[in-house]
Amino acid sequence: MQTQVGFCTLELQVGNITEQDTDVIVNAANSTLSGGGGVDGAIHRVGGSSIMAETREKYPQGCPSGHAVITGAGHLLCRSVIHAVGPIWNEGRQNEKETLASAYGRSLKVAIENHCLSAAFPSLSTGAYHYPLQKAARTALQTVLAFLEKHQNPQLVRFVLFDAGTYQAYSQTLQELLETAKIH
Ligand code: AR6
Repeated sequence: MQTQVGFCTLELQVGNITEQDTDVIVNAANSTLSGGGGVDGAIHRVGGSSIMAETREKYPQGCPSGHAVITGAGHLLCRSVIHAVGPIWNEGRQNEKETLASAYGRSLKVAIENHCLSAAFPSLSTGAYHYPLQKAARTALQTVLAFLEKHQNPQLVRFVLFDAGTYQAYSQTLQELLETAKIH
């Protein structure tokens, strides 16, 4: 599924983010930037050790929740990796929504600062961090749509969703958001 936002394209697809050849891919990292499972494990496995060496050197303090930092991409097809740290779900008691929106917004800002024309995102926080899928999809898509409307950049933002259930949640939510935008 895809939609235009002015001159930009927002796209949803099922896939593995490590196979993307967008300028940048976004990692679902943790605040220590020390690797882990899920997207993070896959990116470091395929990208090789240079990515971790760079995060250790450039960001020894890690990266707080809601923020994002950039490195090279080692053996991956993309040019750079943005390591974004989403919130750990805690029943909505710790500003998880704002933190999740911030992780997407900061990632996009870092992408355009680094002249990336295309960016691929996974569904941040909905795996090991247990953020409820529907809620996360809504915040992710609203944040990206608003950013593209405002900045008209990057030219392509693609959500690469690992399984059919996640894709369905995102595509249904995107349809709802587009319908609502048409009515108002
Ligand atoms: N491509 C695209 N999506 C994927 C891939 C992949 N290769 N692998 C998993 N997913 P998660 P989080 C989906 O757990 O919830 C790590 O240990 C997955 O099915 O990767 O933000 C970090 O070090 C889910 O829909 O990220 C952190 O400690 C989504 O990506 C912690 O997990 C996110 O799942 C971050 O947890």
